[in-house]
Amino acid sequence: MLGHERFYQDAELYDLAFSYRDYAQEAAFLRDVCKTFRHGAAPERFLELAAGPAHHALEMIAHGTPSVALDHSRPMKRYGLRLARERQVKLPYLVANMESFKLDRKFDLAASMGCSATYLLDDAAVDRHLAAVAAVLVPEGVYVLELPYPAELEAQTQWEVASPEGRLRVEWSEVRHPAAAGYRHAATRAVLAFQPRRGREKRTEVTSVQRFFTVEEVRAAAERSGELTLEAVYGAHDRRVKLDDERAWRMLCVLCKRVPAVREERVRLLATG
Ligand SMILES: C[S@@+](CC[C@H](N)C(=O)[O-])C[C@H]1O[C@@H](n2cnc3c(N)ncnc32)[C@H](O)[C@@H]1O
Repeated sequence: MLGHERFYQDAELYDLAFSYRDYAQEAAFLRDVCKTFRHGAAPERFLELAAGPAHHALEMIAHGTPSVALDHSRPMKRYGLRLARERQVKLPYLVANMESFKLDRKFDLAASMGCSATYLLDDAAVDRHLAAVAAVLVPEGVYVLELPYPAELEAQTQWEVASPEGRLRVEWSEVRHPAAAGYRHAATRAVLAFQPRRGREKRTEVTSVQRFFTVEEVRAAAERSGELTLEAVYGAHDRRVKLDDERAWRMLCVLCKRVPAVREERVRLLATG
């Protein structure tokens, strides 16, 4: 099994490791972005890609937006559905590759959060992904891509979280820079050490190659798709935080699907009378 995928097989451990995140606030940011780029309209249908536990989809459902989750990990699907049952909500959850999925429904808002797109290692993978996303967005639909802040590559991050069952220590670090033509790849090592209240520590250590994007690479990928444009980049889950703000710690890219040319012309003619 490949690197971090081993870690994603233990969906509950993943969820504990990232339990410090404020999913309600992240989902509120997604709704805010949707309203900003869709003329004040709240999202009608939300698609969470590489959804993991699908917290964003669950938050959207709690706010009345029907949502669908997609991930290629079956354990993540099982875990996401367990969370949905606990909240007594219906969550359609598809096991599929975010590079090649097809859906018969359209969405006005989609997102891949938690830097999942860093697993799209080359431009061909990114292009397949954006083509699949564009195909399920309505015209002027919005896609939010959460990516690492460009400087994060240099950093080593450590944190601890507690649960009723024990304590989890997480270390996330870059271990080397394999040379890959034209791409900013880094091998990132994740160490998870879970100390249960009783018994021995359980340690999981996985290393995986991830791609770190620049804004220009995201803009170029959107342009190559022929259907999407990069409309904004924020530095946190808050539209007031721009990428050069000292509070910036992530790179949240907002891509919008273009209106088909014929409709654009009709809108222009109507506007000019
Ligand atoms: C860092 S987790 C993020 C999960 C979730 N988006 C969040 O914000 O917590 C990355 C997720 O991407 C999924 N993933 C990675 N590559 C994928 C692919 N090609 N297609 C679908 N899911 C993928 C993994 O299974 C994992 O659940």
